[in-house]
Amino acid sequence: VTSVTNGGGQTAVSTKLDPTATLSARARRVGAAYAGPGAGSDVPVGERPPVAFTAGLPDPAIHPTREILEATAAVLASDADGALQYGGAQGFAGLREWLAAHWSTVDGLPLTADHFTLTNGAAGALANVCDTYLNDGDAVIVEEFSFPGSVRAIRAATPHVRTVPVDGDGLDVDALASLLQRLDRAGTPARMLYTIPTFQNPTGSTLDADRRRELVELCARHRVLIVEDAAYAELPFHDGLPASLYSLTGGANVVRIGTASKIVAPGLRVGWCQAAPEVIGALVATRPDMGTSPLTHRVVAELATSGFLDRHIVQAREHYAHKSRIMLEALTRHCGEVASWNDPDGGFFVWATLADSIDPSRLAALTAEEGVSYVGGQVFVSDAEPESTAWRHWTPGESRYLRLAFSYVAESSIAEGIARLGRALDRARR
Ligand SMILES: Cc1ncc(COP(=O)(O)O)c(C=O)c1O
Repeated sequence: VTSVTNGGGQTAVSTKLDPTATLSARARRVGAAYAGPGAGSDVPVGERPPVAFTAGLPDPAIHPTREILEATAAVLASDADGALQYGGAQGFAGLREWLAAHWSTVDGLPLTADHFTLTNGAAGALANVCDTYLNDGDAVIVEEFSFPGSVRAIRAATPHVRTVPVDGDGLDVDALASLLQRLDRAGTPARMLYTIPTFQNPTGSTLDADRRRELVELCARHRVLIVEDAAYAELPFHDGLPASLYSLTGGANVVRIGTASKIVAPGLRVGWCQAAPEVIGALVATRPDMGTSPLTHRVVAELATSGFLDRHIVQAREHYAHKSRIMLEALTRHCGEVASWNDPDGGFFVWATLADSIDPSRLAALTAEEGVSYVGGQVFVSDAEPESTAWRHWTPGESRYLRLAFSYVAESSIAEGIARLGRALDRARR
């Protein structure tokens, strides 16, 4: 403890605490968030600013800025008090009613506003589920690879995160079956499965219809709660995609997580849980945050009930389908000899696998020189214990896998970015 003189000439007491020395065990276990795109990436002097395929964000070119402005004005003109007071933990009934009508049609189930609670994005939805249903020490299964933001939320509740592989058809259900059996036999049965079955982050893969049926049967048999993250489910590139896990079970034993982040804007921080009303009741009763923003709930409701949102979603689907085609064509032209990749049915991501002839670390250095960036597969690995509370960066290298997001980068830069990747790959061949 030392005395210091502040700007006003007064003596103040300064306790020089190391803010990381007193972190809780839980904070250490969760580890730091990734600095990620938008948090400022370091481009060393002499390197070309990259064409960044890192950001899994919506394209600013289709931000509905004017419509959000108009919707906000309309909400404040008609319901200023509702928008500006506390709004209750479950969230604005008008938006929940719209969600119920919308998802009743998609899922073919009779849903009501009581099947929904509004949260701080999908991230807040998952945190709410984990707080409500996990005890410290419970085993939770996630995909390998999975979205690290979600894995952190799970880790905050329990350190026991186990993984099952994902391939081009989504989660490997045979691997899930044997893991569930092993955990049962060990006396540590799995409590929850967190899955992103549709246009997965990071692999872009979609769980096929047969596997969906096997998955829900397995989880029912082993009494495992399914958390179905549908963050990208509104962005298919064609018709004929399999039914949601929620609709396959009629909602029993499934909490489905949704978000306005990918179809309106992540800055609104509007997400939701969809579940049986008793489950929603428990989620609402246990949350400590006094609900999320009544203003943004009403803005999204206004966009939805005016009919704009449906039109915007159609435009977004076409837009991202077009951008994915540009990326895939450029990959075929520039990278076909030394990498392979999936052809996503929707969402934001292409997942590429490097040939054995490419050293991933050397590729990372060369892509920095060529001016293109991506997220290396190691970021999506959940088994490693983080323990670090320093900001981490979405660095490439170390992994044979590359996540290439086509969503955020300007359409006109995609082909150039992939051409740069192709040059780096050529130079990286052993
Ligand atoms: C699979 C998945 N779930 C959840 C989120 C978090 O979304 P939100 O902005 O709704 O919190 C993301 C964001 O990238 C994601 O990819």
